[in-house]
Amino acid sequence: MNLLDGKVALITGASSGIGEATALALSTEGALVAAGARRVDRLESLARKAPGEMLTLDLDVTDQSSVRAAVAATVGRFGALDILVNNAGLMLAGPLLGADVSEWTRMVDTNLLGSMYTVHAALPYLLEKKGTVVQVSSTSGRIASAGNGVYSATKFGITAFAESLRQEVTAQGVRVVVVEPGFVATELSGHISDPAMRAAAQEMASSMRTLRPGDIAEAVVYAITQPAHVAVNEILIRPTDQIR
Ligand SMILES: NC(=O)c1ccc[n+]([C@@H]2O[C@H](COP(=O)([O-])OP(=O)(O)OC[C@H]3O[C@@H](n4cnc5c(N)ncnc54)[C@H](OP(=O)(O)O)[C@@H]3O)[C@@H](O)[C@H]2O)c1
Repeated sequence: MNLLDGKVALITGASSGIGEATALALSTEGALVAAGARRVDRLESLARKAPGEMLTLDLDVTDQSSVRAAVAATVGRFGALDILVNNAGLMLAGPLLGADVSEWTRMVDTNLLGSMYTVHAALPYLLEKKGTVVQVSSTSGRIASAGNGVYSATKFGITAFAESLRQEVTAQGVRVVVVEPGFVATELSGHISDPAMRAAAQEMASSMRTLRPGDIAEAVVYAITQPAHVAVNEILIRPTDQIR
């Protein structure tokens, strides 16, 4: 008997890092997993590794019709939706002065609007099952710092949206969890276009024992497997060596 036998989970951004590890962890616990992202080849190799049934979804969270189609495909294949993990995100850090504002648009569209679209599409099904929404935020959703203003704004926004959602649906049995990781070793900082910021992120990574994607996946499993009367609303999890 596994902790998530028969539960249906949809995970965004499952093609690498935290999303990939979480998809595997949920599958290991017996969940039927729908794994969405744009790099479908990566999802297909993930599905081959997964111990349970895994549906791969070509998903762009910035596109509302793609999001609606992913939710419909999940429910079509597995008959319900119990768990939504809003994980897709990108961090294009850099100074505000002279920034390429198209990077701001990409972050707001992906991290903030993308996670709102998935909640909008999934909520009717989550209400039916008294399900759970996991919003992957960040320590940057708690503490803003120079060079990370727009990314932080998207993550603060996720927390605000999650608290509003929680108040709207908790009496109907839907639980909302915000997970706030510190530095995790993933591809995330490799997409930063500003050379100084990218180098600073790499230096930070090599200066500490970073978290592993699986550390966050375990926190997600903990939060979503509590008894129905227990709502773990927020988990802040940093590497021990991370000071800020
Ligand atoms: N790594 C950290 O230190 C850290 C710390 C705090 C919070 N986080 C958060 O954790 C989440 C996962 O990041 P990660 O560290 O695991 O980085 P990652 O390995 O770069 O993973 C990001 C994931 O998001 C997906 N994604 C990006 N844009 C998308 C879009 N438009 N539609 C669908 N999927 C999209 C990517 O897939 P495709 O490119 O294949 O679409 C990928 O699977 C993010 O929300 C990030 O902000 C990370």
